Amino acid sequence: MTLLLEPYRLRDLTVPNRAWLAPMCQYSAVDGVVGDWHLAHLGARAVGGFGLLLAEATAVAPEGRITPHDAGLWNDDQVTAWRRVTDFVRAQGAAVGVQLAHAGRKASTFRPWSPVQGSVPAAEGGWTTLGPTDLAFPGYAAPAAMTPAQVADVPEQFAAAARRAHAAGFDVVELHAAHGYLLHQFLSPLTNHRTDAYGGTPENRARLLVESVAAVREVWPDGKPLLVRVSATDWTPGGLEADDVAGVLKGLDVDLVDVSTGGLVPATVPVGPGYQVPHARRVRDVSGLPTAAVGLVTSALQAETILRDGAADAVLVGREALRDPHWPLRAAHELGGDVAWAKQYERGAWR
Ligand code: FNR
Repeated sequence: MTLLLEPYRLRDLTVPNRAWLAPMCQYSAVDGVVGDWHLAHLGARAVGGFGLLLAEATAVAPEGRITPHDAGLWNDDQVTAWRRVTDFVRAQGAAVGVQLAHAGRKASTFRPWSPVQGSVPAAEGGWTTLGPTDLAFPGYAAPAAMTPAQVADVPEQFAAAARRAHAAGFDVVELHAAHGYLLHQFLSPLTNHRTDAYGGTPENRARLLVESVAAVREVWPDGKPLLVRVSATDWTPGGLEADDVAGVLKGLDVDLVDVSTGGLVPATVPVGPGYQVPHARRVRDVSGLPTAAVGLVTSALQAETILRDGAADAVLVGREALRDPHWPLRAAHELGGDVAWAKQYERGAWR
């Protein structure tokens, strides 16, 4: 039996296998509305056999976009556009989730392939970003320190986006609390220097995440799973570590933790094959919650070993899935298991 290709149940959702597509921003939406590119990108990988596809960081509010070209779920046009993508993905037998995000002080930047990098000036369509305080991400424009009313809006923005995600046909929502975006900025002592109920003690720093998860869970259908992506270390002395993050998650109504690292402040990261897997294991052990491992998981055997070792319950594949949209079909071939082929391709499945 091949664990990687075994179904995995989360609430009422049965995900056909444990090879999942990592959320990857495409920076190709217009006013937050996704289009043909997103259908091709996610569609190809649904055909390729991924059991759950996590769509890219999708902003819950316009000022929460990493770039002006990010996908969004703050209005109904965006719902209609996503519906076309989720209908296609689900018709292939895959489950589809959306990563709900607010970039906080890391919003309003140029997209990766722009010749200019850093913050987009107002004259070119940028905006004043929001953060726990006015402390800037190095090299970016300083954010405005969020007022209590602005902080109070955030859980409601996540909840409103989750309602729209349901209408858009998503099976799963993931809250993006990693990579130095808003929820992570509040969670870490390195970036949260507030002196009100949302800063200071670990409990206060976790409050925005706790309230956002609760607000989403309240509106997200009972049978549908809720995931959280965390950075299990800031790779910086004085920053968050896996046990801190796992401690926060332990008490939350979260179905699975997607365990990444870093992104909060510039840091040296010891990147290598499966470099974040030990963090997924630690979060799983301490929180008691299922985890997904991500980060240079590239081969089928490596993925199968991660699952067999009990480090995680699923693996997420990012860049390797850009090289090979059919990564799960190849994994099934290599491991001797089964992944359903699209009927159009079935003749190719002859052994
Ligand atoms: C990413 N990553 C990412 N992460 C996230 O949480 N939300 C996102 O929208 C994005 N966007 C994104 C775009 C692109 C083009 C890449 C390559 C990556 C990070 C991604 O989900 C994953 O965690 C890392 O790429 C590490 O996994 P791999 O690529 O080594 O399998």
